[in-house]
Amino acid sequence: MMTMARVLVVAVGLLALVGTVMASASAVRAGEVTSETPMNIWFHPVGDGSYVFTYSTGSSASEAVKKGGRYTKTPKTNIYYGTKKSALSETAHGDAKFFEHAKYSVDVHNVQVKGLEDGTRYYYTVGDESLGAKGTSEVYSFVAGPVKKWAIYGDYGITNMEKSLDVLLEDGAKDRYDGILHVGDIAYDLHNGNGVRGDDFMAALQPVMATKPYLFVPGNHEKEGNFTHYNNRFRSLDLIGKRSRSNTGLWWSMDVPSAHFVSIDTEVYAYFADEAQQQRQLRWFEEDLIKANKRRAEFPWIILLAHKCDWQDEVDFTDFRALAHKYGVDVLICGHQHNYQRLFPGLRRKVQTFDDPEKFVDPSYWTQIVVGSPGCQEKISKGLAPYKDGIASYYLSYGYGTFTIPNATHFKWEWKQTNRATMMNADSVDAAVAIYEQNESRLSADAEVKDRMTLIQHNHGMRPDDK
Ligand SMILES: [Fe+2]
Repeated sequence: MMTMARVLVVAVGLLALVGTVMASASAVRAGEVTSETPMNIWFHPVGDGSYVFTYSTGSSASEAVKKGGRYTKTPKTNIYYGTKKSALSETAHGDAKFFEHAKYSVDVHNVQVKGLEDGTRYYYTVGDESLGAKGTSEVYSFVAGPVKKWAIYGDYGITNMEKSLDVLLEDGAKDRYDGILHVGDIAYDLHNGNGVRGDDFMAALQPVMATKPYLFVPGNHEKEGNFTHYNNRFRSLDLIGKRSRSNTGLWWSMDVPSAHFVSIDTEVYAYFADEAQQQRQLRWFEEDLIKANKRRAEFPWIILLAHKCDWQDEVDFTDFRALAHKYGVDVLICGHQHNYQRLFPGLRRKVQTFDDPEKFVDPSYWTQIVVGSPGCQEKISKGLAPYKDGIASYYLSYGYGTFTIPNATHFKWEWKQTNRATMMNADSVDAAVAIYEQNESRLSADAEVKDRMTLIQHNHGMRPDDK
């Protein structure tokens, strides 16, 4: 929970950065903030038509913890929902799991909801109404059913969060996207400040996290305590892992209309010497791709989500790359490098160029896209893929991507620039100017969407050996 003092600090601090943060501050109601008040409210599909809603009670900021004690109250876990805001007539019950790390001390509540009708707007509040108003959240709403347009980014943290926050909140409020995929490096870091950093990050994004599905992939910034904040805060992802037979929220897969998402944990290479875990994920990856290929008529696109793409540091992508190529992964979207890059289809230095860099028709290889620049304390990076002729488009600037998969043959991609403050960490002024001019010459007539791509594939499926 947030004490009032901290709520004010958060609100005022962010307000100084952006003008739209009032929506996030209002996520916690003035005068009713206690350790029983739900925070960190978010939800996501499980993959079987159900949703899991998750929130926390308690926190490092609770008075008990400040005094050297620990958070001990565990309110009951409920969601009250319905199709009318004035009549939340349905109730579902869930469970709470205590999570303690350093001075962070919370219950993480999960409650699964089944049987919602696609296309229907539902209103809900989470918490324990037996505790009175302080025990439940404000009322949010969302529309059940498959996400049509996903927003996607990695590497989003509290510092420089304002570079994209106003755009993300406004685009979310106006339904310019329907769900968010966050491919690792979250809050910078979830555990910092005894977990307050993670709570503040989720509070700022709560207007969209509580109203649109939000899914996570782990990055290197989640490594603290063997990924303990990721594994505990986001333990609801285990349900997806269980369903997709990975039995972990660190890597998982899910069917969506016309596509199969596969999410992998690139950090098993960077932070574990445990080869058994690497092999376990690799075996699961191949088994998942074999199954996906048997159902390709219904889910033709295979979209791979990961924190790092195949040239990025500390990751040995050799085996992943070979399997992804063999089993026909169409697209890999990652973060880690703090910029935007969209590559031509290719496999390492083997590049398949197209005359129109915005339209790839029946490529023979996957297409990699980096979306690592919504904003973080490390600012913008000028690091690009080592095979320069393989880069179809890039912007060393802040922004995020979106995609739709309208049918079996088309994948439509856009990248929206959210802030023009670019290259603050260029090696020299000359370098910054040169890059700025290069970017300026690429600006389209559209004021915000700077890059578009249509990927057309009539021949999804296994690929021949590329040796
Ligand atoms: Fe990273």
